[in-house]
Amino acid sequence: MKVAVIGTGYVGLPTGVGFAELGHEVVCVDSNADKIKDLNSGKITLFEEGLEDLFLKNKNNGRIKFSKNIEDVQGAKVIIIAVGTPPHPVSKEADMKYLFVAASEISEYICDYTVVAIKSTVPVGTGDDVAEIISKSNPSAEFDVVSLPEFLREGFAVYDFFNPDRIVIGTDSKRARAVLDELYEYFTDKTTLLYVSRKSSEAIKYASNSFLAVKVHFINEVADFCEKSGAKIEEVAKGMGLDERIGPKFLRPGPGYGGSCFPKDTMAMAQMARKVGTQLNLVEATIKYNDQRKLEMAKRIADEVSSEANPTVAILGLTFKGGTDDVRESPAIEIVCELLNYGIKLRVYDPKGMDNAKSILNDSVYFAESIKDACDRADVCVILTEWEDFKKIDYSELKNKMKILKILDLRNILNQDEALRAGFIYKKLG
Ligand code: UDX
Ligand code: UDX
Repeated sequence: MKVAVIGTGYVGLPTGVGFAELGHEVVCVDSNADKIKDLNSGKITLFEEGLEDLFLKNKNNGRIKFSKNIEDVQGAKVIIIAVGTPPHPVSKEADMKYLFVAASEISEYICDYTVVAIKSTVPVGTGDDVAEIISKSNPSAEFDVVSLPEFLREGFAVYDFFNPDRIVIGTDSKRARAVLDELYEYFTDKTTLLYVSRKSSEAIKYASNSFLAVKVHFINEVADFCEKSGAKIEEVAKGMGLDERIGPKFLRPGPGYGGSCFPKDTMAMAQMARKVGTQLNLVEATIKYNDQRKLEMAKRIADEVSSEANPTVAILGLTFKGGTDDVRESPAIEIVCELLNYGIKLRVYDPKGMDNAKSILNDSVYFAESIKDACDRADVCVILTEWEDFKKIDYSELKNKMKILKILDLRNILNQDEALRAGFIYKKLG
């Protein structure tokens, strides 16, 4: 069937390419003309493992098209809205202006019965608002608004699209369900198509992300406890994770969580709760702890070089996690900015995030060409993002470069014994 996707960002683009790969006829619409121009010329606009090949294949066989004109949604049986819902700078609530603009724009192009699916993460009840906007703009439009939350981890968006743990669909409309059963036919024997009310579907997305953020908060605090008590965080996390009710994932300590989802979704959920007269104490504590942890990590790094007159720190990792080029709300970027306030000279390197980081850091730091270049005459090498590239660090290369052979691994990705055998001072979390 013909599917339209509005917003070709980290969610919209993999979603559009995924549906094209499944054989649907897809048109992706985005208000950013440069993005559309790049995509139409075959240039991928973001890094996601495996996306480029699928994008080129389906673009070349005509199954996916890109347009900046909203009228090109005409004829689509499903219109998926995946525009940004960034935190409002002041209220910290999800800013819905882009979503509402998209909703009113598509309404005039809804001819036959159409399912309008909201994939962006939106406060509970937004589906009602979007339905009202469309009905007001085009009273004769025949449509249903459904919630279709995304669970694509950045860095794994293509994998997660084809291998979802579940597909959550929020609607009470049988008509919409028939269309969505057809859209998701490929998945019927592969995963659970969970139909719930629209508000429950909107809540599942926030509750899932907030819970995962709380889980990261928890393991980071247990790492703090291990540092003081002498227990070992790897062993504690392993022992915890073997309990099926806890599970091994999201028990990796780090400098705090980041990205375009956890920070935004936890804040939005906390605000949403307060707005309806309740309070998510755990989520609010997680937000506060996570903000504090990034500052504490910067102080830990500064303390490591406090005895040096003009310290130089090598920073490995600028993206908010490994496997992506995304630096939005990246703890690494916030820690780099905090270290600049300490007056520390920084040499930074990231496998994919350099361009995005440059637009934030400008020339306040030295952008290195490699791990080795970043470590040149450094007093300490700090790992801030869990990139595979950093797990295979070549100690012999660094030995000739670094002023002091010291590694501060804030992702616990290196092997402690190896680093010590190579003659390095090695410090980690927990
Ligand atoms: C978005 C939402 O921010 C997030 O809440 C949700 O979980 C998934 O969808 P993401 O895809 O990362 O996340 O957003 P972003 O990468 O910013 O892409 C949004 C795209 O929408 C951009 O390409 C932007 O140009 C486009 N857009 C924005 C429109 O096409 N029209 C608009 O009016 C606004
Ligand atoms: C998240 C959700 O996982 C995904 O389901 C949702 O659709 C979008 O938001 P993403 O934001 O891409 O995905 O990143 P994720 O892999 O969840 O990591 C979020 C942050 O937590 C990153 O900064 C990561 O480094 C950190 N993290 C994650 C930890 O510090 N420790 C962990 O064990 C796991």
